[in-house]
Amino acid sequence: MGERITAISGAPKQKPISEKTKQEKFKNIGESKTKKAIDISETNKMEKSELESYKKAGEIAQKIRKYVREIVKPDVPLVELAQKIHAKIEELGAEPAFPVNLSIDDIAAHYHPTLNDETKASGLLKIDIGIHINGFIADTALTMDLTPDNQHKELIEASEQALKTALESLNNNPSLHEIGEIIQNAIEEKGFSPIINLSGHSLDEYNIHAGITIPNYANNNPSTLEPGAYAIEPFATTGEGKIYEGPPGNIYAITNLKTPRSPTARKILKYFYEKYQTLPFSLREVQEKFGAMSRIAMKELENQDIIHSYNQLIEKSHKPVSQAEHTFIKKKDGEIIVTTKE
Ligand code: CO
Repeated sequence: MGERITAISGAPKQKPISEKTKQEKFKNIGESKTKKAIDISETNKMEKSELESYKKAGEIAQKIRKYVREIVKPDVPLVELAQKIHAKIEELGAEPAFPVNLSIDDIAAHYHPTLNDETKASGLLKIDIGIHINGFIADTALTMDLTPDNQHKELIEASEQALKTALESLNNNPSLHEIGEIIQNAIEEKGFSPIINLSGHSLDEYNIHAGITIPNYANNNPSTLEPGAYAIEPFATTGEGKIYEGPPGNIYAITNLKTPRSPTARKILKYFYEKYQTLPFSLREVQEKFGAMSRIAMKELENQDIIHSYNQLIEKSHKPVSQAEHTFIKKKDGEIIVTTKE
């Protein structure tokens, strides 16, 4: 899931809620999921289990990529795709790390259908998938051309080629500037533009955007990547190469554990915090669990700054956008493991 670069405008970032805050603020709502305290002597063991969880999430993400290629066809309702992908992730023993983004044409990212959404798969469809195992995330995306004459073939190849080249460069410990430059060059060579205010990002436990940004253009950042988990996600467009924030994308995340006034809002908050902590969830799932009244309760949660709404990210000149994304782990010894790719 793409990170909007916040230097341009202040889109809120997910801040991890501290354990103390969780316990204090959440006691009125219900039992919180508390993580076990980690003993220093267990650090190595934890790292190993962390890596295993990242790998497992990646394996499931690979299966979902295949499944997506089977079920996505022109005119299939997006809500049907969203439900099937969600169900498949659970069937494979994982949870969504965010609602699958199903973004068409000039919508670059952050669109998820509501339950009564009649939008059908068409055009240039980006499918951005998030999986987590114990909070450890695999984030991967692909683009499918659903036009009858396959008119976006080269645009799709541009973001895929950029991703491939960027991943291959990682063994040379490139700077963020160099990764961005590789992505930019690969896309420009094919005659398109990278989207410069969307970027890849670091990942952490129950955190999709953990602070580091991997640019899609040469941005003069000389830093190299510390060991950790990251997603690279080039976006290519025939347009200007910038996105703006459009209408709500029907995706939300809990940012503040305050107690809402209405009982329905309290129930929604408790349910989604227990299930996803601060990871994003969809209005569709809220509607499925809590029915028609849930829209008002969601407004209440939003107005009280308890949840944050992700807006659709739309290409400024309304030209089509393609996306490719994989997650990788950089180990302490420098080894790179791409978890979401076979
Ligand atoms: Co991402």
